[in-house]
Amino acid sequence: MTQRCQYPPGSIEAADVTHDRIDPHYGKTLKRLLAAHAIAEKLTAIGYERSLGKLTDAVLRYRAEKNLGEERKHAQLIYRALAQIGVSQDAADRSMTPAMSAPSFAAPVRFARHAVDDLELVMASVSLDMTGLIMIGINYRESSYAPHARAAEMILGEEEDHEMFAATELRDAATRFGCKRVNAALCEWLPRAINFFGPPGTGFTYDCIRFGLKARDNEELGEIYLSLLERRLDQAGLQMPRLTAGYPYAIA
Ligand SMILES: [Fe+2]
Ligand SMILES: [Fe+2]
Repeated sequence: MTQRCQYPPGSIEAADVTHDRIDPHYGKTLKRLLAAHAIAEKLTAIGYERSLGKLTDAVLRYRAEKNLGEERKHAQLIYRALAQIGVSQDAADRSMTPAMSAPSFAAPVRFARHAVDDLELVMASVSLDMTGLIMIGINYRESSYAPHARAAEMILGEEEDHEMFAATELRDAATRFGCKRVNAALCEWLPRAINFFGPPGTGFTYDCIRFGLKARDNEELGEIYLSLLERRLDQAGLQMPRLTAGYPYAIA
């Protein structure tokens, strides 16, 4: 998707939105994007919290506790950014209700609703932290909306650490859980993970790119994720399951 971006990175502040100094559609698009980001962080935090009751491995428990604290902080940062432009946490979450049943939210919703065991925690981290790192590092870091770019910079270091954790755990997963179990879990989680980027070429993403709120289309981010994951699976001696073509992805 080649299109011109109207606003350079970090060029818009909250006051530009609240004082109507900018296209009103920019504010609407920004609110929807931040609400989606905030709830994804919140659901991930809830997932880590729920997992604490079921995890048996001490290292995984320690990591889940650490990630839980950091995901909570990420959610707070984004809800704070929403509050600055007049959107409460409740209103933001309410606006996301219809999206909660879409394939793009299957990974965080599943993680938040079902307590995961040790192997599933690794899969959830592969599906949420690896994807989150790509979304934040590529899409939001250079956002035209300065508060989102600043929040992304703060989140990024911690997400890099979460991704490293996921990669390390994935590398050891085949030995710990057996290839068959890991492959079955991958087949279950991979479609959720790739669908988390959302459908390609939507009008919403077009607006986000036009306004400088996102850098790339969802499909491009999904391709970056698959190539990163393929490398990680290779290092772990595991194979990438085959996917159907196009969103919403499923196992072929
Ligand atoms: Fe996060
Ligand atoms: Fe994370």
